[in-house]
Amino acid sequence: MSVRISPSILSADFVNLERDLHRISSADLVHVDVMDGHFVPNLTLGLPVVQRIAEVSPLPLDIHLMIDDPDSWAPRYAETGAFSVTFPAEAASDPKALARAIRSAGSRAAVAVKPGTAIEPWLDLLDEIDMILVMTVEPGFGGQSFIDDTMPKLRTAREAVDASGLDVWLEVDGGINDETIVTAVRNGADTIVAGSSVYGRPGTPEPAERIAALRAA
Ligand code: DX5
Ligand code: ZN
Repeated sequence: MSVRISPSILSADFVNLERDLHRISSADLVHVDVMDGHFVPNLTLGLPVVQRIAEVSPLPLDIHLMIDDPDSWAPRYAETGAFSVTFPAEAASDPKALARAIRSAGSRAAVAVKPGTAIEPWLDLLDEIDMILVMTVEPGFGGQSFIDDTMPKLRTAREAVDASGLDVWLEVDGGINDETIVTAVRNGADTIVAGSSVYGRPGTPEPAERIAALRAA
């Protein structure tokens, strides 16, 4: 199975964002973390910045919304031409309607579950969604450690998706490095977000080398 890599620009240099978008062009998608300072304590960027990223990014956008009001905002992110828009399970008031609105705006619709959120209710909605994002850290910050306890949930999702025969991707996000990517893929992930392990710190290997190492692992 070939695994898709979606580097998170949360760990990029926001002052040199266009350069850093081009530095990951060997990946499959670019993961854009939208945080509102309410659903999560951290605040990142919003619609005007995402619209501009969509114009200059060499890769399709994998937008990860960590916001209190996805029902109002997610379709507007889809209208940027994003490849996929992921909304938080815990904040969506009418998930089925929201997924349909994202799809009709032209993006793949996805739902994210925090480490403590059950996956089972979402397995009945598989025909309404294109991807499940199993958070492998508490959302809000890059550079945290992978939570192994999320793996049984990922396996449950993998079994349900395979049994359904539907083209639903399973993404993991948080604490992914050369070792934890192996664990995540063995447990059923096919789409991998990696922030700090791709962008690293100045003086560490280039993102392209880091992406190649993740693929090799
Ligand atoms: C965390 C974000 C992640 C973050 C991952 O809430 O959703 O996408 O960028 O960062 P790393 O890969 O450093 O754990
Ligand atoms: Zn994310």
